[in-house]
Amino acid sequence: MLDRAIGRASRDVPMDRPRPGATDLSLGLHPHALPAPLQLLPGAEGSSAAAAAEEEGGEGGDGASDEEVEGEGERRFSLMGQPLVLKRSRPPRPRRALRVWGEEEDPSSPCCSSSCLSPAAKRRAAGLGGLEARRAAVRAWGCQPLAEADPDVHAHMERERRRQLAGIELIASENYACRAVLDALGSHLTNKYSEGLPGARYYGGNQNIDAIERLCCDRALAAFGLDPARWGVNVQPYSCTSANFAVYTGLLLPKDRIMGLDSPSGGHVSHGYYTPNGKKVSGTSIFFENLSYKVNPQTGYIDYDKVEEKAVDFHPKILICGASSYPREWDYARMRLIADRCGAMLMCDMAQISGLVAAKECRSPFDYCDIVTSTTHKSLRGPRGGIIFFRKGKNLRKRSGSLSQAIENDQYDFEDRINFAVFPLMQGGPHNNHIAALAIALKQVATPEYKAYIQQVKKNAQALAMALLRRKCRLVTGGTDNHLVLWDLRTFGLTGKNFEKVCEACHISLNKTPIFGDNGSISPGGVRIGTPAMTTRGCLESDFEMMAEFLMRAVYIASIVLKEHGKLQKDFLEGLENNNDIIELRNQVETFALQFGMPGFDA
Ligand SMILES: Cc1ncc(COP(=O)(O)O)c(C=O)c1O
Repeated sequence: MLDRAIGRASRDVPMDRPRPGATDLSLGLHPHALPAPLQLLPGAEGSSAAAAAEEEGGEGGDGASDEEVEGEGERRFSLMGQPLVLKRSRPPRPRRALRVWGEEEDPSSPCCSSSCLSPAAKRRAAGLGGLEARRAAVRAWGCQPLAEADPDVHAHMERERRRQLAGIELIASENYACRAVLDALGSHLTNKYSEGLPGARYYGGNQNIDAIERLCCDRALAAFGLDPARWGVNVQPYSCTSANFAVYTGLLLPKDRIMGLDSPSGGHVSHGYYTPNGKKVSGTSIFFENLSYKVNPQTGYIDYDKVEEKAVDFHPKILICGASSYPREWDYARMRLIADRCGAMLMCDMAQISGLVAAKECRSPFDYCDIVTSTTHKSLRGPRGGIIFFRKGKNLRKRSGSLSQAIENDQYDFEDRINFAVFPLMQGGPHNNHIAALAIALKQVATPEYKAYIQQVKKNAQALAMALLRRKCRLVTGGTDNHLVLWDLRTFGLTGKNFEKVCEACHISLNKTPIFGDNGSISPGGVRIGTPAMTTRGCLESDFEMMAEFLMRAVYIASIVLKEHGKLQKDFLEGLENNNDIIELRNQVETFALQFGMPGFDA
């Protein structure tokens, strides 16, 4: 009883409420009055409570009945009939000075003066004052706008915003995200850990995160018109490269075989790539065996007969369609036949064209493929990341040849294997801010406005292609079916690298690309130009005609610099410095680009 009473009394004292007349007493056992019951105090609760009371200023006797005060520094009282003595351990001091967060002690008060305090009390006082200072510091830290918190990063970001706004963006894989997507990306969702999948997480507190990820998955399937009974999706990959690697890891064993389009033919390195001297330039080539197929060097189109011939010899376990730089439609039906002939799973990496697929403005890989991966930030216009779609449920395709395990079982088993590969095999916690932003973008993808956007992307690509062809430029395959053109600059005696540099100096962004038959990545012979970004900013066909004109002027400047300074990179770059033609074109480009607002930042 007694021990509980003392324990309760000390616990019941509000820690932050001062009591008038409270003295700073420590609970001590008077030698004369050492009553047997006090020895019954359970060391843990009673004594620690008492110690805590002492720590907090000696209010441990609160609630007990004070009957008499004897002598300096001692208080005798009885508690439930038991005599007790409280012994003063240090001079009394007003508690408020230490109790109110942030309030300074009054240095004029002798009782508050730090010189009155015992070393332990001084430490406590400093601790409490320091605690408040720390709280204030954290609050200030937490709410500072970026410009104040980090002027250096802010200044770089502002310059980048200005660059994005004042320049012409023609990199085929880039786009501008909208305000809503940017808001979600820069949100508190980045604070949450949610390893696992909705409903099966490693951490608690994921109710809202689960709801967001489920919504994102539902919208992803809806955006591509997929039946949730037949297709599943994983929206967690941090990028398409990680998505592709998760697919290989989930479905293959090390050294299993993969076949995709060769990088110099426009394929992506994550489909496997060796340089001509055998250097492995992709994790895919290190951990798996790969043999690539190529485009026809005369036409620039994929040579499906050759693909079949190679695939039948090589027997890949995964055959990949999809590319980074291919301006034409894919023959997915033919690729399916080839995959079935050699017993491969058919995967499409639709990173470049996923927006066109969603808007039904090109053929759909979903009609033929087992797995489809994509980025989410290119023509799809969402946040930067990756996504994996996989078939599930019963496999209704006819059996043929030596088929993959999934087909032999008549039931696709991709779901668990791919989900497990994404997490825990390849990744950690999902980026929930990205997943929310993706959900927002996927909602937009399902709208008529988005379809109109993609139709305009294609019209603009056609307009650009026609404008360049009219100016006697050579385009790979002679044109485009999608959002990009591949421009072979070798007819002007230029390399993609030099032309990219001139364009950059004139505030036009595009990227060099190998043209099949040139010496590949060492000196790519052309550039890739895409229309999604400038279409997002509101450019129409006539604007792309104007851009073609700017590009031709850049060709002219590059040719002059080449003639005057030579083709050595260092000399060529020197020729770009303080070049009046470049300054003039840059001014014109910026005046033109500034007419078109930048999503997310328009007034
Ligand atoms: C076809 C293809 N796959 C994958 C990627 C890589 O995407 P990420 O940068 O998200 O890894 C790209 C990038 O351009 C691509 O074009």
